Amino acid sequence: MTYQAKKLSSNDNNYQSESLNSDLDVFIKEQSQKPLLRFITCGSVDDGKSTLIGRLLYDSNLILEDQLAALTKDSKTNGTQGGEIDFALLVDGLAAEREQGVTIDVAYRFFETDKRKFIVADTPGHEEYTRNMATGASTADLAIILIDARKGVLSQTKRHSYIAKTLGIKHILVAVNKMDQMYYSEEVFFQIQQDYNLFSKKLGIENVSFIPISALKGENVAQKSHVINWYNGPSLIEFLETIEISQEQENQAFRLPVQWVNRPNLDFRGFAGTIASGEIRKGDQIVTLPSGKTSFVKQIIYDNREQISAVADQAITVVLENEIDISRGDIISKVAQKPEITDQLQAHIIWMSEDEMLAGRNYLFKTCNKTTSGVVTKIKHKINVNDLSQSETKTLSLNEIGVVNISLQEKIAFDTYDHNRTTGSFIIIDRITNDTVGCGMIDFGLRRASNIRWQELSIDKHAHATQKMQKPAVLWFTGLSGSGKSTIANLVEKKLYAVGKHSYLLDGDNVRHGLTRDLGFTDQDRVENIRRVGEVAKLMSDAGLIVLTSFISPFINEREMVRELLGHDYIEIFIDTPLNVCQERDPKGLYKKVKNGEVKNFTGIDSPYEVPQNPDILVKTDQLSPEDSALLIIKHLEDNNFI
Ligand code: ADX
Repeated sequence: MTYQAKKLSSNDNNYQSESLNSDLDVFIKEQSQKPLLRFITCGSVDDGKSTLIGRLLYDSNLILEDQLAALTKDSKTNGTQGGEIDFALLVDGLAAEREQGVTIDVAYRFFETDKRKFIVADTPGHEEYTRNMATGASTADLAIILIDARKGVLSQTKRHSYIAKTLGIKHILVAVNKMDQMYYSEEVFFQIQQDYNLFSKKLGIENVSFIPISALKGENVAQKSHVINWYNGPSLIEFLETIEISQEQENQAFRLPVQWVNRPNLDFRGFAGTIASGEIRKGDQIVTLPSGKTSFVKQIIYDNREQISAVADQAITVVLENEIDISRGDIISKVAQKPEITDQLQAHIIWMSEDEMLAGRNYLFKTCNKTTSGVVTKIKHKINVNDLSQSETKTLSLNEIGVVNISLQEKIAFDTYDHNRTTGSFIIIDRITNDTVGCGMIDFGLRRASNIRWQELSIDKHAHATQKMQKPAVLWFTGLSGSGKSTIANLVEKKLYAVGKHSYLLDGDNVRHGLTRDLGFTDQDRVENIRRVGEVAKLMSDAGLIVLTSFISPFINEREMVRELLGHDYIEIFIDTPLNVCQERDPKGLYKKVKNGEVKNFTGIDSPYEVPQNPDILVKTDQLSPEDSALLIIKHLEDNNFI
């Protein structure tokens, strides 16, 4: 069934036979021209996924002899098949995974038959590992959904099908496995087919096929089964070899996300990247976005050689006729088929972190090669993947899928995910931990804010500050409730006032009576509270004032966001008072209420306080009086030429 790779010994290499070389050339050419099918396999832990992949590799002669010997030996010690070869062991390579009995992370495997090359992303079936599946699915043409014939359609099956559909997979093959355990019953198979069809119709998946198999016994995997004689369709491999997949990537509009600007010397300037879709030819007129500058293609370099044209998936360098400014993350396209540009969009996102998603929090959004900060401004709803119902929510938890509005700091060039799976998708990164916490598919750009421009003001920040004869600053006090923020901030403001400085103190308790009256103390509301206060502090510093803010501001993420917003004006002051001291002081009697169970989500008790790692001023109130604390802060302002 497969080509046995012809290996040349060193002797063969010396022997430059014409015929051998041309044989080899033909072989290599055939190999490289064989169409490629990318697919993923999804199923629950025990559905037999690893066994199926092991069987596919084995039956297509792709397990090398020595690996096979090791496998036979391993099967005797660790296998679950009573000494017969346990194909799952081949796939569940890692010892740790074997011990846990689940496969983690996506493993890509390659195999081929006479007709096709295959890349299979083996994605784990454990409920927690939706993220791995999403990773594997984003490039796949087809998904094999494994169903255990004994169990039928499970909620996992629906989750996986939903994700496959959402990630743009057009073909689904339902492999009803473990048929041997159900006496190869036709009724069992048809019942599952009926159940699945009910769900897939609702979901709107068009191309669904079903094959009854036994991965363990090899029935209907590589060869057609004689035992399942009531089934007339192809075996799994035959199906994979013959299913028609449109080469949509190549037919789509040309998109080259620029990965880097290649400038080895002054005479050469090329833009390198992997073509996401479409084709480009020498002489084509191109436009680069978001800047909108145009030029013509002078040279295309692929594989160290100049080419007339290049297509999707090729990593190329293009040289343009005239010098235009292009940087990493820009998208080069053809003038007639431009991507859209926006900084506001609606997207489906899959949340992948143990920490909940917080609307209003600043995350990094990475599309193609561009990273920009942004916030989820609104969660429209989340989707229950079992019945596809929608429900309102304030946050998204691990593995949840939601439809959200996003506002980005910078404009990006994009396509909707429907049109292009590369330029229509993004990942979400936590700014502090750098972890990938979610992935998203762009539904459409929102145009509503696009008519708003910055208005030039004649009396700017500098003019305001000069008139007040001072340097604007924001003294950002952070610390636990009862730590002494407001007391010290008050003293500092009095001292500033005494020397004629213009200032304003934004105090948590006061602001919560007005501007943030609608907010409580959930993580979500605290994020929004600090966002608003940060913006107000910015306006006030633009007015030339010295602003003092006194808010618990418990999260590093939001404090960093404010630091970025305010730049050098931001001075972080950590009022460091141990929790037990705050509890003893208890100026508002709140800790007592917490103890009596009257107040929930209280900072330091059942809501976190993330200690500043590198504050500009550290005030230890168990060592300094309020007066001395205020003097310490004034001294810092003098030393740093703020006053
Ligand atoms: S923040 O977390 O969003 O920055 P903020 O500083 O505005 O909080 O408000 C904190 C003040 O609200 C506290 O000093 C306290 O007086 C009061 N408060 C009421 N409930 C809580 C709570 N659950 N957690 C913290 N503070 C609370």
